[in-house]
Amino acid sequence: MNTSSTSFVFTARVLHWLMALLILSMLFIGIGMVASVSERHAWLLSIHKPLGIAILILAVVRLIVRLRNPPPPLPDDLPAVQKLAAHASHWLLYVLMLLIPLVGWAMLSAGGYPVMLSHSLRLPPIFPVSGAAFAILRHMHAWLAMLLFLTFLAHLGAALYHGLIRRDGVLSSMTGYRPK
Ligand code: HEM
Repeated sequence: MNTSSTSFVFTARVLHWLMALLILSMLFIGIGMVASVSERHAWLLSIHKPLGIAILILAVVRLIVRLRNPPPPLPDDLPAVQKLAAHASHWLLYVLMLLIPLVGWAMLSAGGYPVMLSHSLRLPPIFPVSGAAFAILRHMHAWLAMLLFLTFLAHLGAALYHGLIRRDGVLSSMTGYRPK
């Protein structure tokens, strides 16, 4: 359970900053990968797949940590519409963190491509082979990634608004740093 009412638990904070770094890297690796026709494409894809599966595993762990440790409440004086936007965007981020890697995995399964985590470790397919499904899942993966990027930008804007303008303790509940 949460022992402090003003901060996220330590595990939640570590997972938050680690995943922020990994997901941001993944968005740029993904975009760099599809924009590249050199041998760099295969190299970036070989990083993209295991990192994406690592994000999926971390997202499941994070969801469990989140459900077992309720977050600190938002400030009482925060307008209801902003509280609603905060909660909706946080759950959207969880959905996207789980859905994007699953769609990436399903896309490769539909295309009949193996999902190799290393030279010898191969994940089982999670979708039947189908060219039409591959095309749909390929588009879904790209559009969901763009939605994740936009949600991330909104989330960053909100964090800066709380930390620099309202100075209401919301940002420090995740950084753990409280200036005296
Ligand atoms: C949070 C996790 C992930 C993020 C943020 C992400 C993001 C992206 C992005 C931004 C692209 C480029 C889309 C485009 O503009 O067309 C992409 C492409 C791709 N992703 Fe992911 N991805 C994730 C996980 C995965 C996973 C787990 C797999 C497979 C196991 C995967 C397989 C692919 C493949 C095969 C492509 C297309 C490569 C190509 O056409 O050259 N992704 N991803």
